[in-house]
Amino acid sequence: MSTFAFPSMPIKAKPNPDWSSLDPVQVKRGCLGDTRPSDPSTPLRIFYEHPRGHLVTGDAIAWLNQLDAASVDLIVADPPYNLQKAKWDRFATEEAYLTWSLEWIAAARRVLKETGSLYVCGFSETLADLKRPALRWFADCRWLVWHYRNKANLGRDWGRSHESILHLRVTPAFRLRLDAVRVPYGGHTVKYPARTQARTSCFGDGRSRAPWVPHPAGAKPRDVLEYPTTCNGMGERTPHPSQKPEGLIRHLILAASDEHDLVIDPFSGSGTTVVAAQQLNRRWIGCDREPSYHAWAVRRLETLPNRSIADWLDHDRRAASHRDGIR
Ligand SMILES: C[S@@+](CC[C@H](N)C(=O)[O-])C[C@H]1O[C@@H](n2cnc3c(N)ncnc32)[C@H](O)[C@@H]1O
Repeated sequence: MSTFAFPSMPIKAKPNPDWSSLDPVQVKRGCLGDTRPSDPSTPLRIFYEHPRGHLVTGDAIAWLNQLDAASVDLIVADPPYNLQKAKWDRFATEEAYLTWSLEWIAAARRVLKETGSLYVCGFSETLADLKRPALRWFADCRWLVWHYRNKANLGRDWGRSHESILHLRVTPAFRLRLDAVRVPYGGHTVKYPARTQARTSCFGDGRSRAPWVPHPAGAKPRDVLEYPTTCNGMGERTPHPSQKPEGLIRHLILAASDEHDLVIDPFSGSGTTVVAAQQLNRRWIGCDREPSYHAWAVRRLETLPNRSIADWLDHDRRAASHRDGIR
């Protein structure tokens, strides 16, 4: 076990004071590595162990290649976007980026079970180029949109308020648990809960149908998921330059896995996927090249409030209703 030394990180956003004060004493248990930035050829090392999972430092493709085939239920991948945001986010050309992306997607496919699926986050402009070639290894894909409204619109082009998520399924037997992520019905449905499908409706088929009754757990979720980007003031925020919101990742995990399933993230960064998997009683493994990011993940894992899955769902619903209320 090497000595634990935290390097000073270049931090762009104003960090949450909690994170800037991180020191080795506060990371209580199981940190097996150090925090020097790695280069791609660095051998794989276990950084942290937990009863439900572990974090590995090293290259994602090298790590995926040494996992057992067909051993994983769900992969949530939030790879570099090739936006030059950090040194790990630079590729010589867009073609080099696409070639590398297909290499890690193929490696990810190998470790998935027949019932498994892979989420790939990215900008639509890039995922549009990746979807067709990636589909040669998968039975199907659905395109999800992550919509947010809280990003400043400072550029001279269309203001960005969405990113995309490919949901690639290994076989038609992939897990899809829509009941786990039902959403509140709209006001109109709540006001007129039981109504007969009109004969003239495109769903009426010219015949009278039995009155439709709303599902007690809410409406089926749509493919546009609205969650604000992480920003200062949120308890979950770390100084990671491209941290995903926990609520979004909870939603994705709940929809495509069951309790005790194995959920992995080859680019785990500050640990959002492993934190959400832990909250939702899944097993998990995260890999990232940068050990200092793992230190933030460990901090998040070690300070998680003790909530049930139902409590997390309630938390996300109340947050959504609060956002709607202030618009
Ligand atoms: C978009 S960020 C992921 C952020 C993460 N979802 C979170 O919420 O913190 C991409 C991550 O990939 C890592 N990374 C880049 N290239 C990698 C590689 N070849 N192998 C493993 N990790 C890599 C970076 O260090 C970075 O943390």
